[in-house]
This record gives sequence, structure tokens and C-alpha cells, in this order.
Amino acid sequence: MASRESPAGKARRSSTRAATLQIRLPRPSDRLDQDAEHCSVLLHGEWRRIRFHDYDEIYRIPGLYEQLFHDILDCQSPDVIAKLLKEELQRGGYEPDSLRVLDLGAGNGLVGEQLRNIGVSGLVGVDIIPEAREAALRDRPDVYDAYHVTDVTRLSPALHRDLASTGFNTLSCVAALGYADIPPEAFRAAFNLVGDGGWIAFNIKDRFLSDEDTSGFAAFIRRLRDEGVLELMTMQRYQHRRNVHGEPLHYVAIIGTKHRNIPVEFVP
Ligand SMILES: C[S@@+](CC[C@H](N)C(=O)[O-])C[C@H]1O[C@@H](n2cnc3c(N)ncnc32)[C@H](O)[C@@H]1O
Repeated sequence: MASRESPAGKARRSSTRAATLQIRLPRPSDRLDQDAEHCSVLLHGEWRRIRFHDYDEIYRIPGLYEQLFHDILDCQSPDVIAKLLKEELQRGGYEPDSLRVLDLGAGNGLVGEQLRNIGVSGLVGVDIIPEAREAALRDRPDVYDAYHVTDVTRLSPALHRDLASTGFNTLSCVAALGYADIPPEAFRAAFNLVGDGGWIAFNIKDRFLSDEDTSGFAAFIRRLRDEGVLELMTMQRYQHRRNVHGEPLHYVAIIGTKHRNIPVEFVP
């Protein structure tokens, strides 16, 4: 059973942690790409195999997401994105309590929690699966002012009106772009709900920004920068977490400011 724990993980465990679960990772001989990673969890006396991308199953088990990704695999991303955003705010002389954040792919609220820790005042979560919202309300009931289960590319007129009138000046999107998660079209829809001049804080796997990228994200983000849609303030490669074999997975954290909406033709 894996059991390494980072200092950040230990600190986070204080708030909402359920009893420790027994978790087994695959053998090192099973070479797995990130989207095929899985673990086994002992539940009611039986080992259940769960894919890392089956977020619905993971969120239904209190504490599993935190124990697996943060304690065992040492995920740093919510801390890194919140810290870099705070640094940019300080550099520009902005107060965090002026931020009204839309957190896209909010999951069970770990990013929201970090944003509250840096002093963000307004925070709305959005995720595409109901289990994410249920877990966030169960484990971090005070973090979000509102949390919507929706596909941002197909918002109902009422929810679109509601979100558009919130006056978002920041978008966060952490550990949720690429693979089978958030596509460029959904990123565009959320980005366009933020006002011009707003902050955009997100991360993406380094491979998706490389010349070999086939996801379309590399060209998409290059175009946002080159055509003056997104001004990049910080781009930092860092260790997002380890994979199930203990090897580092690197992501790039990006903090920028929005200059204008993303036109539909920019989406790959
Ligand atoms: C790895 S989790 C990250 C959760 C959280 N941001 C964090 O860092 O702890 C990815 C989340 O993105 C959500 N997601 C995937 N596709 C989405 C979409 N099209 N729109 C909104 N959320 C989506 C998943 O349901 C999941 O909760």
C-alpha cells in the first residue's frame, strides 16, 4: 500500500478528512499512460478497482480524492495556481478580495479552498458531473457561493443570464483541461463569461503545449497569446503530481489577463 505524504497534504488533512482508506496502486510493470491510471480501494471488505478518470466514483467515497491524489501522489496544482495568482495580484497591486472567480471543473472544491485561503471573496463553481457538486457541498460546504452542475457550452438561458450578470473578473481551471475532460470549446465558453481585463489562471500538461501536441491546445493557446486575446503574465513548468509509478508528471501553470472574448473560429 502506498503511504507517502507531503507537508501540504498533511496540512490539508486537518479539515474534512474521513477515515484513512486502504489504497493499492498498480504494479510498476503495468506501464500506464495518465488517462489509464487506476487504483484499488478496500471498501466493505472488498477491493474495488477505480480508474482515475472515473471522478463520479471517486467523489462518492469521502476522502478518496484527497488521499489518492494529494497525500499519495503529491498533487500540488491547487496550491501552485493559487500561489502564482496571489503573486501576480501582489505584483500589480490588486487585492484578492476584489476577485469574483468562476472555477471551471471545480471538482470537490480543493481549488476553491485554496482561493479562499488567499482571500478571494466571490467564488462560483461549475462542474459537469453532479457527484462533484455533492462532494464539494459535503466536504467543503462553505467554500463556494454557488456551484452549478452544467455543460458551459450548453447553458440554459436562465443560467447564462445568471452567470453573465455575476461580473466575473477571474477564471480558474485546474487539472481539468485535456484528455477526456474540458475541451477548448468549454474553456472558451467559460473564458467569455469573464470581463475584459480579468484574470485567467489555469494549468495544462506540458505535453499539450509542446510542438508534438495533437490535442489542439498548443495551437489554441498560442493563438490566444499571438492575437492579443490573453496576455500571459506567468508560465511556469512544475511537478503537478507523481504518476502511479512514482515518476513526476509535469504541467505548466499559466496566469494571464483577458483582453477580449475568444472568437468561435479560434477553437480547434
Ligand atoms: C482532476 S479533476 C480537478 C478538480 C479540481 N479542479 C482540482 O484541481 O482539484 C477534473 C474535474 O473536471 C471536471 N470536468 C471534466 N469535463 C468537464 C467539462 N466539460 N466541464 C466542466 N467540468 C468538467 C470533472 O468532472 C472533474 O471534477
